[in-house]
Amino acid sequence: MSLFITFEGIDGCGKSTQLELFRKYLSDRGIRNMIIREPGGTSIGERIREILLDKINTGMTPETELLLFEASRAQIVREVIKPEMSSGTVVICDRFADSTTAYQGYGRRIGSESVRMLNEYATDGLKPDITYLFDIDPVDASQRMDTRDREIDRLDSESRDFIVRVREGYLQIAGEDPGRVRVIDAGKSIEKIAGEIIRIYEEVSGNETCLRDR
Ligand code: ADP
Ligand code: TYD
Repeated sequence: MSLFITFEGIDGCGKSTQLELFRKYLSDRGIRNMIIREPGGTSIGERIREILLDKINTGMTPETELLLFEASRAQIVREVIKPEMSSGTVVICDRFADSTTAYQGYGRRIGSESVRMLNEYATDGLKPDITYLFDIDPVDASQRMDTRDREIDRLDSESRDFIVRVREGYLQIAGEDPGRVRVIDAGKSIEKIAGEIIRIYEEVSGNETCLRDR
């Protein structure tokens, strides 16, 4: 059965770690799955990603940034996500439209109506069946990022206030759509979180199967 699942949260929340564990869980059970990331995931999207992350682009306006994220999304929805879902693959996306609401809408303070309209247009109305929101104190997330062996990019260099607004934005999204967005306390241990992700996945995929079989 095909589900569309997204992983969301501020940088350093532990998304990549949990994506890998969840992929292993699905693959061990013979469930066909595909993990993709935003921005990127297609050859056009990866080129847009380079523009977005390049530290040289200090003059990028919030509006340009918003449109580039949406352009990458419009491509991956139509080129990859929808066709894969039609063929029964569980598609897991490392970030999706909620990232734009949180980062550009709340972080950059772009009006929520523009973000909502562009998200709707880029996703062609596609909504995740489950969104895991990894909620963590920005101070803890930043400490975790310091331990990562990765170069700092344009979007990693945002202020603490920006990240605090992004986190608040995410929690607001979760409050508005609690059935879809499952808030995970990302301060817990890696094992505990992995267990919670699987429990929620089994609950939702079980329900879907029951509905289909009726
Ligand atoms: P993200 O993809 O959200 O930026 P990562 O999965 O790369 O985050 O995790 C950032 C760092 O924090 C890594 O060094 C990872 O090993 C560590 N980490 C991830 N999850 C946890 C956790 N639950 N507790 C403690 N450290 C964690
Ligand atoms: P990435 O290296 O993928 O970060 P992470 O490993 O934390 O997911 O970089 C993606 C960056 O882009 C991240 O800082 C979040 C930001 N972003 C937005 O601002 N808006 C968006 O719509 C998306 C998808 C990402």
